[in-house]
Amino acid sequence: MLTTLAISNYRTLREIVLPLGRLNLVTGANGSGKSNLYKALRLLAQTAQGGVVNALAQEGGLDSCFWAGPENLTKGMLAGDTPIEATVRQAPKRLKLGFAGEDFSYLIELGLPKPDSTTLFGLDPQIKREAIWNGPKYRPASVLVERRGPMVKSRSPEGQGWLTLSAHLQSGDSIFTELADPERSPEVLTLRDSIRAWRFYDHFRTDAEAAARRPQLGTATPVLHHDGRDLPSAIQTIFEIGDKAAFDHAVTDAFPGAKVRITPQAGGILQLEFNQQGLLRPLHASELSDGTLRYLLLIAALLTPRPPELMVLNEPETSLHPDLLPALARLIAKASDGCQLWVVSHANRLINALSQFEHCNTLALDKNLGQTQIVGQDLLNTPSWQWQLK
Ligand SMILES: Nc1ncnc2c1ncn2[C@@H]1O[C@H](COP(=O)(O)OP(=O)(O)OP(=O)(O)O)[C@@H](O)[C@H]1O
Ligand SMILES: [Mg+2]
Repeated sequence: MLTTLAISNYRTLREIVLPLGRLNLVTGANGSGKSNLYKALRLLAQTAQGGVVNALAQEGGLDSCFWAGPENLTKGMLAGDTPIEATVRQAPKRLKLGFAGEDFSYLIELGLPKPDSTTLFGLDPQIKREAIWNGPKYRPASVLVERRGPMVKSRSPEGQGWLTLSAHLQSGDSIFTELADPERSPEVLTLRDSIRAWRFYDHFRTDAEAAARRPQLGTATPVLHHDGRDLPSAIQTIFEIGDKAAFDHAVTDAFPGAKVRITPQAGGILQLEFNQQGLLRPLHASELSDGTLRYLLLIAALLTPRPPELMVLNEPETSLHPDLLPALARLIAKASDGCQLWVVSHANRLINALSQFEHCNTLALDKNLGQTQIVGQDLLNTPSWQWQLK
């Protein structure tokens, strides 16, 4: 489980350290930085997939991701006495992402290369630093792997001294993709596999052309695809190796009297059948309302028989009727028994219903002078985090 998430210099997240629990609810007004948090977490996940450079390119490049305000806000700027203006840079411009976990923790720093007139790729992000350490606290004695530029060293298995894992790591490659080796750096491999299993569900498409409405060949599917294309297979997998009773209960909790069945069709196609009170025949995925289909997708995602260490739902309330939201909150709370959950929402009924659960960690965001802040956070309740070894 992740206990802390730290982000520096990413869009509105100039400097933020968040305490995390099993069930985390992120709320806040439009533009407060909820999606930026979600995207920062996804960037971390993309690092483990080897895709952080491409992911940044899709967001408009590293330069566009950097916090667009001054490096430091002076007291005068904060008080509104002096205008906001650029200050003289003290440190190189870096985007930093990191998390502390119960077992392992990780941080990455990305920056731009030195100006070079011989290449047209002078804005390609470079990985400047990465570190993996044991437990939540970054201390010299807990560091397992440390990368600076192309040099990567790991603590030797006997605990004495350091081994050089690589002296030539490419600036766009992460230690996760290049050095996950069960013999020499088992912690890199363990952490990489757990980050790769993180799941992000962001606005399932449910329009007429959506993948979730099209027939699909059935294959055992313990984890629903992020666009929901394998919904019938994922539901059937829950029926066969997961908690079928919980699935049926989640369906009736939201749609009283309804039942979902999966039936085989010619050629190995699996078909979803939604039996509703009052109808003479079941409805198929292509006939369901957007909200009903999206709710079934959420049930299949949340009741996965193979829960990831972290699952993130971005605005799961989209196109759901407010009356469905208390049932969704119960489903989310149940799923948080098996995996760490992160829910971004601005639906009041979902927020109120989730807040009733004792283990719900609510992070209300607001924006001050363009920076995201956590409402009510002060020095005393900010988790400790450091980017550099002291
Ligand atoms: N590089 C940047 N530096 C500073 N601020 C930025 C940068 N890029 C985007 N922003 C700001 O980030 C804000 C958008 O944040 P985000 O998308 O996370 O909001 P949100 O809380 O998800 O809002 P909504 O509820 O509307 O989805 C906008 O106000 C935008 O001006
Ligand atoms: Mg948003």
